[in-house]
Amino acid sequence: MEIKITPSLLSADFANLQRDIEAIGSADGLHIDVMDYHFVPNLTLGLPVVQSIRKVTDQFLDIHLMIDDPDRWAPSYAEAGAQSVTFHVEAAKAPIRLARELRRLGARAGLGLNPATDIDSLRDVLDEVDMILIMTVEPGFGGQKFLDLCLSKIERTRTLIGDRDIWVQVDGGVSTETIERCAEAGANVFVAGSAVFGADDPDAMITTLREKASA
Ligand code: DX5
Ligand code: ZN
Repeated sequence: MEIKITPSLLSADFANLQRDIEAIGSADGLHIDVMDYHFVPNLTLGLPVVQSIRKVTDQFLDIHLMIDDPDRWAPSYAEAGAQSVTFHVEAAKAPIRLARELRRLGARAGLGLNPATDIDSLRDVLDEVDMILIMTVEPGFGGQKFLDLCLSKIERTRTLIGDRDIWVQVDGGVSTETIERCAEAGANVFVAGSAVFGADDPDAMITTLREKASA
């Protein structure tokens, strides 16, 4: 499956978002973390900022909603022109209905899982989604240490998916140290925040990560 590197803007400079977006032109998409102080103990940005980002870039926008009540808020991000909208299974009240609504609006539907959430009970909803996002840290903050215990879930997810065309995204602690293990386990979309924006040359780091994931 095609390897994609989607840097997280959480580690960009929020006062210079356009500058930092332009610094990662080789990215396969921009991962945008929306947090609400409720689902996670942090607050980031929301719809108005995503609408402004949409105006200044043609990049694939990959929205990661770490919010309560995604059933209510997620469709607006698809309407704002995001190509992918991921909501968390722990927060959604009607995940099947929400995934279908996102697809109807023209976006890819993503299902996010926290580290302690199992994939096996979700086998029946796989046909409703385009991506499974596997958190490899507890959600809420950039710069945390990768949780190795998530690797077996990546493998099980890829096995459950079988020959369906579903992306497996990993998010949290992805770096030159951990990306190869994620790829071997079956991930094909890689979020990296601190690894990309903490590098001297963010665009070169994207190339390095892509090479390691493809090896
Ligand atoms: C954390 C976010 C991640 C975060 C990853 O809850 O979902 O996207 O930005 O940051 P790093 O790559 O630094 O772990
Ligand atoms: Zn994220």
